Amino acid sequence: MPKPTGGTIGILTAGGDCPGLNAVIRGVAKAAMHHGIRVLGIRDGFRGLVENRTIELNNSLVSGILTQGGTFLGSSRDKPHKMPVGHGVVDQTAVAVRNYRRLKLDCLVCLGGNGTQKNALRLHERGGINVLTLPKTIDNDVAETDITFGFDSAMSIATEAIDRLHTTATSHHRIIVCEIMGHDAGWLCLGAGIAGGADVILIPEIPYDLDAVVRTLTQRRRSGKRFSIIAVAEGIVSKAEAGRRAQQGKKTKKNADPDAAPAVIAPHAPDAVHLVHESVASRLARHIQQLTGVEARVTSLGHVQRGGPPTAFDRLLCTRLGTKAGELLAQGHYNIMVGVKGTECVPVPLENVAGFKRTVPPDHAWIKTARLVETCLGDEAV
Ligand code: F6P
Repeated sequence: MPKPTGGTIGILTAGGDCPGLNAVIRGVAKAAMHHGIRVLGIRDGFRGLVENRTIELNNSLVSGILTQGGTFLGSSRDKPHKMPVGHGVVDQTAVAVRNYRRLKLDCLVCLGGNGTQKNALRLHERGGINVLTLPKTIDNDVAETDITFGFDSAMSIATEAIDRLHTTATSHHRIIVCEIMGHDAGWLCLGAGIAGGADVILIPEIPYDLDAVVRTLTQRRRSGKRFSIIAVAEGIVSKAEAGRRAQQGKKTKKNADPDAAPAVIAPHAPDAVHLVHESVASRLARHIQQLTGVEARVTSLGHVQRGGPPTAFDRLLCTRLGTKAGELLAQGHYNIMVGVKGTECVPVPLENVAGFKRTVPPDHAWIKTARLVETCLGDEAV
């Protein structure tokens, strides 16, 4: 049964950052304080809970942060049950729970992606504490929500990058391979690729056939188009590699493609042991240049996609999600994630979210859209 208003919540941001985190912190804090709930900010994700590093939030601290990128609380990828301490890794679950109780928290609000959803549920199950999560990630791959916050901002950045690559690729009659974040889910690459009009879009969910890609590029050239843009997600696999993995019955090491160039020792590395691995995009560009005879270049967007201010869409989404969370907390609803279903922000049981990843289904409308505008998705030539 919902508990009456009042009490104290802690709020933390965990995992890779993204635009919109500050907007959600603001939304949760303002709505919770509106209902008479005290709000403690916890520094640097779960590590701050273990190390008891908190800051009491008030209206002036969460004012003016709506438009700011990153997270003013700081983030980390640390997990309570496997936390690096000194030279070892220690299970700090009991410490995290002890601090939760010492701070007299009624609920721990966790803003994060798939790892955070699992860590929050684990704390609830093992430590008996209340948690509430919100779906953050530029990857858009959290289950039980139609969209995650940060995705729209990252998609805008990647789309603008593809626009800019178009003009330079046109001038030099080149092929440009643009690497976009996403190890397991291709939402960002697919969305930005369609919005930016990429000629080829390769995502982890659709193993690619190099021959089909090369035939598409050659055909474009024959039809008078002297440049091509290829949007590539970090986690793509070739059909051959996917087949090998399936045969072995287990996932081999990511990007462990036997066709990859050998790792080289970075000549100026201070300790001379840092290895530089060829990225999937570089490998693909190398093969494409060899097979088409057309000059190819690579642009890896990297963490630029996670930086800077959120878009208007994300600011609105974050404020809606955050304030909905504040309202649910005031009613004593715990152990849920606040997600988006259709036009509504709704609570969903956390156990339906944690451990499930939302990848792009093969029959998704965006896949059909891309094919209808004759974008090659790597499985067949267009
Ligand atoms: O999970 C979000 C994400 O941005 C991925 O798309 C990307 O592969 C990864 O984080 C990079 O994380 P890091 O912060 O460790 O470089």
